[in-house]
Amino acid sequence: MALVATQDTSAGKQVYTKWCAGCHGDNGAGDGPAARHMIPPPRDFTGAVYQIRSTANGQLPTDADLLRSIDEGLPGTAMPGWKNRLSDRQRRDVLAYIKTFSTFFADTTQRPQVLEFGKEPGGGTGAEALRVGRQFYDSIGCRKCHGDQGRGDGPSAPTLKDDAGHPIFAANLHENWRFNGGPTTTDIYHRLRTGLDGTPMPSFSDLIDQKFLTETELWRLAEYVRSLSPGEPPVVRDVIHAPLVTRVLPRAPDDSAWNAVDTYWFPLVGQVIHKNRWFAPAVTGVWVKAVHTRDSIALRVTWDDRSASPDSAWLGHLGRVLATVQSDDSTREQPALWPDQMVVEFPVTIPTGMERPYFLMGSSSGPVYQWRWTSASRSAAVAGLARGIERFDSLPRGGVGARAVYDHGQWRVVFTRALASLDTASQLPFRSGRAIPVAFFALDGSNGEHGTRMAVSTWYFLALDEPVPARVFISPVLAMLLTLGLGMLVVWRAQQKTSYRRQQ
Ligand code: HEC
Ligand code: HEC
Repeated sequence: MALVATQDTSAGKQVYTKWCAGCHGDNGAGDGPAARHMIPPPRDFTGAVYQIRSTANGQLPTDADLLRSIDEGLPGTAMPGWKNRLSDRQRRDVLAYIKTFSTFFADTTQRPQVLEFGKEPGGGTGAEALRVGRQFYDSIGCRKCHGDQGRGDGPSAPTLKDDAGHPIFAANLHENWRFNGGPTTTDIYHRLRTGLDGTPMPSFSDLIDQKFLTETELWRLAEYVRSLSPGEPPVVRDVIHAPLVTRVLPRAPDDSAWNAVDTYWFPLVGQVIHKNRWFAPAVTGVWVKAVHTRDSIALRVTWDDRSASPDSAWLGHLGRVLATVQSDDSTREQPALWPDQMVVEFPVTIPTGMERPYFLMGSSSGPVYQWRWTSASRSAAVAGLARGIERFDSLPRGGVGARAVYDHGQWRVVFTRALASLDTASQLPFRSGRAIPVAFFALDGSNGEHGTRMAVSTWYFLALDEPVPARVFISPVLAMLLTLGLGMLVVWRAQQKTSYRRQQ
């Protein structure tokens, strides 16, 4: 028996050293060579504190809980899922091995007790159920951290840190695909019952014991939280279609004309190519809408950002970020008040073939054309040419307008420009009938993002749609009539033939 156990951990150790130690450290202390780049940092296994459990808060997880985290990973963090990379055997072996880092697991007299969660009661999607859920969202203090609209921008948000003192964001409840413990109503309910140990996210089981609310009411709250995210995670589509509008261009971010326009989601990731690299970006993606008139274009970029930077309330958070993340040149920067920024990038001219300039802000020989907006001067944007990540030259008479609103953890910025440009050598003329490459870069100043520290997208496309000519609308009908007519003809001819034959 003892022999089997030692064999098990040595097999687990091999898997661990190869696949986990780079982040979690040789001795499980969360201090592997990659650890100093990421927020949240890799878990220190020596404390045996686990977020994703089916047990009460403060308790050890079950093996099934640990296996779930290893299989699925922790979405929204650097922790990958291993289900498709390691065999069943390897995952069980490594599970056994990480438990050896803490003596807490050695005490086999105390087996973790799985909580009785019950099942989701019926009737959870109606307006009344959501109203009940929202009521408890307010009354039991979720908004303190998660904010009025759930974007993680509550009054306490800038002060949050995990048990080790690392900075931690209150989850953005509109992005359930990034929830550490899974996206479903049941997953959310379980997290509300267990809390996320080691983080400020508490367990609300006590409130049920104290009869402050019932289990059904806590399910209603979980359903309300679930309703804040889309039914399915957003799908990335490559081409932004900008329809032609005949009325005036909607220049205000909240112009009701935007409601009728399709929205496109583009994920952003940390800029990890160019020094100084940045693995901890705060902006996870942008929602984009575009329209054009006969002579101008408007592009609305919306993104979630917990802070309207610069905001001195977030300086403490920034201090923790800078203390946690190591920069490539190991200089230690002082917290400062940086603005938020959004960059929309195009090539200088519409490419004829497939070739495009370097997506990461062009290069000295191949510049890119950009619109840059910062929260320091909200209602203005600068057009210019970037020649690599460190060189930007603004263009005189750039002609780009911008209007911005910040609303409960979300920026909405409308960029406008004339389609034609006087300076066709450096300022892209917009034309319909050609897909125009476009890319996005976002910087959250309160998270210390400036210079090379930013969230980046790759190239996507923008297409200025022409109204569909009337004959295209008729042609399917015509086509139908024609096929029908031809079909009739065939049937008729066949009948003719048979009757002819019969006559013979
Ligand atoms: C690229 C870095 C990285 C690698 C490689 C990695 N992890 Fe993690 N892991 C993390 C991070 C980051 C967290 C903490 C996430 C958080 O706190 O929200 C984490 C957390 C965990 C947790 C805690 C789950 C919980 O409920 O709190 C477990 C268990 C875990 N990792 C196991 C493993 C195993 C086993 C391997 C190797 C097969 C591995 N990790 C490899 C980054 C990594
Ligand atoms: C004291 C601050 C605080 C309060 C109060 C709070 N949360 Fe959280 N919550 C957090 C933090 C911080 C996280 C992120 C933890 C992480 O990233 O590992 C979080 C994460 C979450 C998550 C994501 C879970 C996952 O699987 O990653 C949900 C859902 C959530 N909270 C809902 C709620 C609801 C609903 C309430 C009120 C009943 C609430 N929270 C109260 C701080 C708080």
